[in-house]
Amino acid sequence: MLEQIKNIKSLDELMALHSATFGKTGTMTARLKDMKNLDNDARAALNAEVAAMRDAFKAAQEELENTAMLVALAEQKLDAADTSHQYQPPVTNGKLHPLTQTMSEIAAIFESMGYGLRTGPDIEDDWHNFGALNFPEHHPARDMHDTFFVDGGNLLRTHTSPVQIRSMESDGVPIKIFCPGATYRTEMDATHFPMFHQVEGLHIDKNVTMSDLISDVKIFLARFFEMDSVDLRVRPSYFPFTEPSIEIDIKWRGDKWLEIMGAGMVHPNVLKNVGVNPDEFQGFAFGAGIDRLTMLKYGYNDGRKLFEGDIRWIKAKGF
Ligand code: PHE
Repeated sequence: MLEQIKNIKSLDELMALHSATFGKTGTMTARLKDMKNLDNDARAALNAEVAAMRDAFKAAQEELENTAMLVALAEQKLDAADTSHQYQPPVTNGKLHPLTQTMSEIAAIFESMGYGLRTGPDIEDDWHNFGALNFPEHHPARDMHDTFFVDGGNLLRTHTSPVQIRSMESDGVPIKIFCPGATYRTEMDATHFPMFHQVEGLHIDKNVTMSDLISDVKIFLARFFEMDSVDLRVRPSYFPFTEPSIEIDIKWRGDKWLEIMGAGMVHPNVLKNVGVNPDEFQGFAFGAGIDRLTMLKYGYNDGRKLFEGDIRWIKAKGF
């Protein structure tokens, strides 16, 4: 019993044991009532036992109360370095630019489809931006690209297609790549900014066909717009570097068709320009405007918004 009292870990338990022993119906109370029937020696022994138990209860109680006080003191200790009770101004984290976020999403999708990432310079020479892409000298197709010229006969690339050329020059074929990046044209209105962004796709091998193009574009667009599947419409178009050339439209919100990218089978002249035999290899290329993809995905009409740095708008759009 004395051991049991000593080992008790809480005041409540101690009190419970105390009343089970000395309370009205307690075990010891019953024995004490019976004391008159005991002889002197037994009485003395019982008294000693009672005294020892009372001492043990008292000691245990003091010990437990002491510990409880120490715990309470430790909890109440004032930590001068703890500022959690003070007013904390809200912390706002910086984020990547919405376009950078979209570019990362696009990159993750193409990489998962086996396309390798390639980039090229923003300042290009005429050959990579036009010549190698089968734009003849003085051909009106060059006027479709309102070009920024820079000193030394160079220019700001008007599309990401020169990265096709540079990549085939350095890596040869077969090749399966995507090339995101900034592009520049001298135009400016609600949907056109002098700097915009494109992502180019290029897949050249021995048996690559137009249906591979359509299927990959479908997979990409469905994943990008988080749709189960997408309906595409293909219209004939013209680019000097693809033959045949097409414009791909996507069925948007069930009713209208939206132009989403240009594409086609890479023109034999382009392959020849990078030393590839077009009788042996062929494939497709496509080019989409990233700014436009971002506008559609996040639902806004003024492309200039992304460059105004209006944090309220950026937050409202959920970027
Ligand atoms: N470079 C074209 C443009 O900027 C897009 C495109 C890329 C078309 C690849 C066909 C193939 O308009």
